[in-house]
Amino acid sequence: MPEPKPQTTVLFVCLGNICRSPLAQGIFQHLVNQSNLTNNFQIDSCGTASYHTNSPPDPRSIQTAANPKTDIEKFNYIIPMDTENFRNLQKVGVPDSKLTLIRSFDPTLKTPQDIPDPYYGGDGGFEKVYQMLFLACDGLLDSIKYPA
Ligand code: 4NP
Repeated sequence: MPEPKPQTTVLFVCLGNICRSPLAQGIFQHLVNQSNLTNNFQIDSCGTASYHTNSPPDPRSIQTAANPKTDIEKFNYIIPMDTENFRNLQKVGVPDSKLTLIRSFDPTLKTPQDIPDPYYGGDGGFEKVYQMLFLACDGLLDSIKYPA
């Protein structure tokens, strides 16, 4: 039996888990596959809330959605789409060593910015979000393949 390859585990996190983080998951999976690294990665997405968009998520829903007991241990990289979700993840105990805002990996940005929530905007918002995510996911994969 061949030895199982070491797994790098990456979790993308947004608020609703229907727009940004599933798109990031798909783009990152595509880039990983293109690099012939499919068997080396386990990639997933989740949200820190599913409703009450304009108010802070109930701590209990953050706790449940982020499933901190298992997810914090399971994933090497926990990648929020924006500062709101970054803070939500800190609140449930994700250590800063695992947490990086996704656009920190965008090589074209001097300071990281949020991926805007496209949920209430027009369809054009999704195309912009896709372009932002592509650059950031490409940078993330490079940073894992070629650590500084
Ligand atoms: P996402 O966008 O966080 O990128 O998935 C959202 C989608 C739905 C809601 C919030 C954000 N919602 O409250 O229903």
